[in-house]
Formats: sequence, structure tokens, C-alpha cells
Amino acid sequence: MSKDITILGIESSCDETAAAVVVNGRNVLSNEISSQIDIHTLYGGVVPEIASRKHTERVNQVIRKALETADRTLDDIDAIAVTYGPGLVGALLIGVAEAKAISWARNIPLIGVHHIEGHISANYIAAPELEPPFLCLVVSGGHTHLVIVKDYGEYEVLGRTLDDAAGEAFDKVARAVGLGYPGGPKIDRAAREGDPHAITFPRGKVGESRYDFSFSGLKSAVLNYLNSEKMQGREVNVPDLAASFQQSVVDVLLTHAMDAADTLGIRKFALAGGVASNSALRAAMKEACDKRGITFYCPPPILCTDNAAMIGCAGYYDYIKGKRSGLDLNAIPNLML
Ligand code: KG4
Ligand code: ZN
Repeated sequence: MSKDITILGIESSCDETAAAVVVNGRNVLSNEISSQIDIHTLYGGVVPEIASRKHTERVNQVIRKALETADRTLDDIDAIAVTYGPGLVGALLIGVAEAKAISWARNIPLIGVHHIEGHISANYIAAPELEPPFLCLVVSGGHTHLVIVKDYGEYEVLGRTLDDAAGEAFDKVARAVGLGYPGGPKIDRAAREGDPHAITFPRGKVGESRYDFSFSGLKSAVLNYLNSEKMQGREVNVPDLAASFQQSVVDVLLTHAMDAADTLGIRKFALAGGVASNSALRAAMKEACDKRGITFYCPPPILCTDNAAMIGCAGYYDYIKGKRSGLDLNAIPNLML
């Protein structure tokens, strides 16, 4: 039997400082996440400069804790996988600099990982039997991508958002109705008490482009609705607004994803990214997949939002393909998949 490959994953692209120890891609020995949500909540969203400073303060502790929890030392690590884009440049640089320093000091191979590839790979951890090819909808605060995963590390992007990401729309709408940051979980919770058919919001369409997304029109429609209700002295029913907005997002994501699955005859479908934690989205996607006999995959919420286990997993598949990064690895804020 071949030797186990142990990867130390590091993630710092936005507001979570995370480190994880992952064996053979799918066996997660530790998954440490230090969230900065409490600090950014004070400002109603992520402040990039504060995010970078907090990563600098926390990255060493988080790595130490990940090794401790996994009962491993750096001597046991075969490679270091780190997110190098996309994300906030200052935030990414902290993880990249840390990974390069350890790689150089300990002479351990370095692997730069694409953040979205990490989100997709969270599905491999949650479902040990899952193998490519499959269709994956990546919905997070910064990204909305409909992707065919052809093989490990091989992707065809069918569609992407042309303006706001799905999570960004959740965050902006939540802020506008006073629910605070981060908006996604708060809208999700409020929507449980509301009627998804109370208010009709638009379903974003993008000209001829069948699989692309647009959420800025929906966001504007919600803001216009709020303004108009205020002008007329009416109180807004927040649960109804949250449920109606969420329904519009879910409808668009579902229609595009199932259209692609039906057209391309894909029999496995996976959700990924922070918005994949949304209860209405998960339920609607599962139901649509079950109806078609498509196998549905979705990681648990802790693997949907930013974490380093998913980076360790993606890094493992790069490692066994022989991919290595040099010490000139740099942060690329707008890295394409
Ligand atoms: O993947 P992630 O942690 O970071 C990025 O790569 O962007 O995603 C964060 C996003 C935020 O916009 C947050 O509001 C959204 O995921 N989110 C949710 C839920 N939980 C997190 N959106 C809708 N419903 C949720 N339950
Ligand atoms: Zn993310």
C-alpha cells in the first residue's frame, strides 16, 4: 500500500483565518477556523485592512492548533496547500507568505490552490464516494459559478454572475432591512417565518446567455420596494420580504442548474460555497434532483463557508498530479477558474 499523504491547508482569502490537516484528501484530522465576523459586524461588512491585520495576528495560532488537534507536527506534513486567489489581496498575502515561510524553512512542497476549487472539493470530504464528472453550483459571498467538474482539477465554467454574487445580494438586502452582517444566515432565519409569495421580485435574466447570472436587478428591486413602502408610511414585513427575496434567488439558481443538468444529461449535482448552507436552497435543489433521479451532494455548513480542510483536499489532488508552486507564488485577487 502506498504511503499516506498528509497536507496542511491554509486559508485566509476573506474574513476567516483557517488551517487544517487532511490525509489523502478526504480524511480531515483537524479543521480550525478563527472567524473575524464579530469585528466586521461593527462595520456592516468586511473591512479589508482589518481582515489582513487579524490574519497576521491569528495565523500562527490557528496553524499550531490545527497540528495539535490532528496530533501531528510539521515533520509529518508532506505538502502545504494555500489559497492564493481569488479574494482580498492583503488577506490572501498573509496565508501565502506564511505557507511560503514554512515551505522554505522545512523544505516542504508548496501548492497554491484556487479558492473556488477549494469550495468544490468540500464535496469530496462530505461524500467519500463522489468522483468527477459532476455538475457543481458554487454560491458564495464573492462568487456564483455553474461548473462542470470534468476531473480532479479540470473544470468547465458554464456560467457565472455578471454583477453581484448570490451571497453579496443576501448581505446587501439584509443590511438594507436592518438585519446586519453577515446577511445570508439572517435572511435564511427570518424567511422561515415569512411567505415566499408575499412580494413578487424579478428573476434575473442575462440576455441570450443561458447559464450566466445577474443579481443586481433583484437587489435594486428590493431597495425600490423598501423605499416605496417607506414613502407610503407602511411598515415592511421583514420575514415576508426575506422569504420573497430568497425565493427569487433560489428560483434563478435552481432553473439554471437544472437546465444545465437536463441539457447535458449530468447525473450528479453538488452545491458548494457559503450560500450552499441556505436551507431553502438545499431543500429546493434536493427536491429537483430527486425528481430527476440525479444524485444530490451538499457539504455540511461548516464545510460550505470558508475553511482550510477544503483547501487541503484540493491541494491533495494537485499534489498527486505533481503540481507544485515556487517560492515566487503570489496572491492573485481576481484569479480565474
Ligand atoms: O464561501 P463563503 O464563506 O465566503 C466567500 O468565499 O465568499 O461565503 C460567505 C457568504 C456570505 O455572503 C454569507 O452571507 C453567505 O455566504 N451565507 C449564506 C448563508 N450562510 C452563509 N447565504 C444564505 N443563506 C445562508 N444560510
Ligand atoms: Zn469562499
